[in-house]
Amino acid sequence: MAETKKLLRALSGETMDVPPVWLMRQAGRYLPEYRATRAEAGDFLSLCYNSELAAEVTLQPIRRYGFDAAILFADILLLPQALGAELWFETGEGPRMSTITDAQGLKALKGKDDIHDHMAPVYETCRILSRELPKETTLIGFAGAPWTVATYMIAGRGTKDQAPAHALRTEDEATFAALIDLLTDATIEYLSKQVEAGCEVVKIFDSWAGSLKGEAFDKYAMEPAKRIIAEMKARHPGLPCIAFPREAGDKYVGFAKATGADCVALDNSVSAEWAVENVQKDGCVQGNMDPKLMVTGGQALIDETRRIKEAFSKGPHIFNLGHGITPDADPENVTVMLEALRA
Ligand code: CP3
Repeated sequence: MAETKKLLRALSGETMDVPPVWLMRQAGRYLPEYRATRAEAGDFLSLCYNSELAAEVTLQPIRRYGFDAAILFADILLLPQALGAELWFETGEGPRMSTITDAQGLKALKGKDDIHDHMAPVYETCRILSRELPKETTLIGFAGAPWTVATYMIAGRGTKDQAPAHALRTEDEATFAALIDLLTDATIEYLSKQVEAGCEVVKIFDSWAGSLKGEAFDKYAMEPAKRIIAEMKARHPGLPCIAFPREAGDKYVGFAKATGADCVALDNSVSAEWAVENVQKDGCVQGNMDPKLMVTGGQALIDETRRIKEAFSKGPHIFNLGHGITPDADPENVTVMLEALRA
């Protein structure tokens, strides 16, 4: 039977008049119904581990907007928590974690196969979603890329320049590389269970890929992505994989070929015209509207939606933002964008 889900069609290389669309962080604080469900759960992490409510917030933007894809509601930092790191969120500030700074800290972590009891509620969320999503909606599972997850584990928080992680990488590369290896292996086990529980696509978020330069990028952004994708495809033949090496710049060129990704997600620092010539020539791309337009709206939002749609219209494209939709976005602007896109 011919594939009918638009997102899967784009991922298999089909060019469409109207591209499939979803938004990073589409279940989030800009939606009043999300804020209400989070309050019911108590806090963000309790929401992540409450399968019924996590499925509910995943479904909210699908009901409201009819996006072509739903992304599992969870967080990239649940994996280090499953490996034994402490994790909490400071209101208004973001994540905090216990830190890994040496070989001893690394040794105290659990093994790649010891994460599943902790992650059981996440897998249950996937199972609920695969039952409850509309038949035309694709379910995307995800994990953080090893480098990005490591930056939080090493620093114990988000950092502007990922300096603590770069310091460990240059000062104790054996420990750093062993942490990347553990995260790569654990990510494969984690994503495999998501797929077994109903996810149809997986996406790897490397939010801080842009701070790795030259050879370090190849070793710690490209190689782990390649290993994860190769193993996922070996275990789950035909599984489409999206890679998001955010702010990779010139390193976006050839990234899909080098890693085996079916689609590369673009941040909004690259122009659509450049990306058509240098990235979309190798296959499907996702992106890349500036999330700020979801706050400011108006004619500029309509014009930019049409411009990006048109720019990528000669090849496979998934419409999305260049990064997550922000809490100050106006939910009405999402409707305006969808009307401009689907007209
Ligand atoms: O996109 C989705 O709707 C799916 C769920 C999802 C979340 N986080 C939920 C979330 C996904 C795919 C992520 C990925 C994620 N998490 C990344 C990679 C993508 C990116 O944004 O660069 C990173 C770096 C994280 C770690 C993280 N989680 C940070 C730094 C923060 C705090 C910043 C913020 O936006 O508040 C979070 C919290 C978080 N993760 C929220 C959501 C909806 C907000 C929490 C809340 O409701 O208070």
